[in-house]
Amino acid sequence: MADLVVTGGAGYIGSHTLRALEAAGHTLVVVDDLRAGREAFVERAPLVRCDVGDREALAKLFADYGPFDGVVHFAALTSVSESVAKPLEYFANNVAASAVLIDQAVAHGVRAFVLSSSAAVYGHPDVQPISESAAIAPINPYGASKAMVERILEDVEKAHGLRWTALRYFNACGADPGGGIGECHEPETHLIPVALEAAAGLRSQLSLFGTDYPTRDGTCVRDYIHVTDLATAHVLAVEALLDRGPGGAYNLGTGIGHTNREVLDQIGAVVGIPVPLQEASRRPGDPAELVADASRFRRDFGWQPQHSDLETIIRTAWSWLSSWREI
Ligand code: UFG
Repeated sequence: MADLVVTGGAGYIGSHTLRALEAAGHTLVVVDDLRAGREAFVERAPLVRCDVGDREALAKLFADYGPFDGVVHFAALTSVSESVAKPLEYFANNVAASAVLIDQAVAHGVRAFVLSSSAAVYGHPDVQPISESAAIAPINPYGASKAMVERILEDVEKAHGLRWTALRYFNACGADPGGGIGECHEPETHLIPVALEAAAGLRSQLSLFGTDYPTRDGTCVRDYIHVTDLATAHVLAVEALLDRGPGGAYNLGTGIGHTNREVLDQIGAVVGIPVPLQEASRRPGDPAELVADASRFRRDFGWQPQHSDLETIIRTAWSWLSSWREI
């Protein structure tokens, strides 16, 4: 018996949320096909290795471990550039498979569904910071796939009463200060881990994509939110749904934008090694600025990021990289 299913619980944000949910007293079952996740990240909960689009495997999961009060759904493909090259894989994995999971949740009387969503649903918005009232206008299949699942949840709530919350993260980063889990995408493409790998000598340099953006130093501005703060937000979101509290779509960020150069300078200062870098042309599809207005989540849930200053983000990410890459 468990009270929550966590899909993608062996992944980066999923594994941090597992720890936070367990610390809050929940009993969990993890569903993960381990395509990107790591078995070692699931420390206590039973791990059922299957695809969330596998209807029979899900039916067995509900029979073996249910009934469940809630589902926290992370399992998805997450690379923007890969989604442009392989849109059908993204729609199959992120949308069609989620529809099967949601269908099973409804069929088995689940009351609460939390979706891992993304700022990518907004595309290139004109107004910063971005609030939830900004238009949903994704510019790549990854963002479109998240927007579609949100829409499915909206319609399913009306038809079947399944309550939902979608958490639209800005730039997830950092690692659990307690150690043992962290970010390890293959290939890694995100600014902070790539820069740390360059500082550690694990790659020759970082390519700084675009120095001619209309920002204070010409490089892109992003809103970095520590994964432990994201994990706390998931606990609040699922518990609120179960208590008939607030739900819907929410942004998660700090509201503070940092340029890529500011991040790289701070990495040099925290790690004590300057990041070897080469200026390069813009990466296609990168908006100049993405900063969250997360005031709605803060107001409804009393949430306040605790670990999302750049120094803590970099320190925890560096400590994780040092441990798993044995630097
Ligand atoms: N960057 C570099 N060099 C690198 C890697 C990144 O200069 O080697 C730059 C990017 O061009 C961008 C910034 O660092 O300006 C941040 O890039 P990331 O790849 O770390 O993150 P993104 O902002 O592109 O992506 C994030 C989330 C996605 C989400 C997207 C929404 O990670 O899941 O925002 O646009 F879809």
